[in-house]
Amino acid sequence: MKPAQLIWHNGRLKPWTEATVHVGAHALHYGSSVFEGIRVYATPLGPQYFRLGDHTQRLLLSAKVYDLKIAFSADQIDRACEAVVAANGLASAYVRPIAYRAGFTFSLSPGQDVPVELAIIAIEWGSMHGARALEEGVDVCVSSWNRAAPNTYPTGVKAGGNYLSSQLIAQEAVRGGFAEGIALASGGLLSEGAGENLFIVRGGKIYTPPVGCSILAGITRDSVLALAHDLGIDVVEQVLPREFLYFADEVFMTGTAAEITPVRSVDRKPVGNGQPGAITRALQKAFFGLFDGTTADCRGWLTPVDCTEQARVETCGHGRPLPGPRDQGRAQEQTEAA
Ligand SMILES: Cc1ncc(COP(=O)(O)O)c(C=O)c1O
Repeated sequence: MKPAQLIWHNGRLKPWTEATVHVGAHALHYGSSVFEGIRVYATPLGPQYFRLGDHTQRLLLSAKVYDLKIAFSADQIDRACEAVVAANGLASAYVRPIAYRAGFTFSLSPGQDVPVELAIIAIEWGSMHGARALEEGVDVCVSSWNRAAPNTYPTGVKAGGNYLSSQLIAQEAVRGGFAEGIALASGGLLSEGAGENLFIVRGGKIYTPPVGCSILAGITRDSVLALAHDLGIDVVEQVLPREFLYFADEVFMTGTAAEITPVRSVDRKPVGNGQPGAITRALQKAFFGLFDGTTADCRGWLTPVDCTEQARVETCGHGRPLPGPRDQGRAQEQTEAA
């Protein structure tokens, strides 16, 4: 992964080396950060964000759970996300907004006097498991680590601390020669991958664990549910036992980083005939078609990156971005909701 030149940090674009945090930062000690991973795709109409508004909304909801007061509105965050892509001259990108308790305290109940900062990093990144993985599929294992039980910490919140669980799952898988690990929920039923949601195809139907199985409710997962509906394929959200992985005709995993990655074996047992199956392929075609224009964006999931100089000045020149005219409706809604 190559660092980008510029990072958006608390309202300003800064060189990569200057966007830093203090060693006393609360987030470093206790994982008190919330973040998103968002993709920008190169399309015939230029770089476009995929479901930017939904990611920003999830970021703000994650922040709400941990009482992280982000000093920027949803519109300002969206504009800042655009600015960092434009300023780095990226045609496609993986974008990481992160809000974190930047101030020092060893308290586990920090007050609002401990500042919260927001940074947005944009890098160029191909598919998480590599381009061949999208074509050929990956080999995965079931992890010896379970996902956190729902009454421990919320897996539906995308918080930095949650990713200790993901690191254990992914590291164990890689040590065993697998691309990824799939975790069971604390009750022993299937949950998700270290950084992906899980789908199983059997008898022409798609099955996926529900949100109660300690998953992150993925935005790619939600997109796949919608695209499957468009293709007339039934999707069942239900609890699934581990053996469903071995009974499956097809298995695939979804995520912003992983996109739609076919799984060709689980625990060294082939999935189906060991090749990505027809339903996985059809969903990949529909999903990636959004970015080359062969699938209509009928749900308004794509947002063009505003590359104009004006957008950059508004976002960087005044320390804090100001909502432009096209944002005022949304800003108003937020004020009313608050
Ligand atoms: C634990 C976990 N589950 C699922 C996902 C997929 O979520 P999304 O499709 O919103 O990227 C991710 C990636 O963000 C993740 O980290």
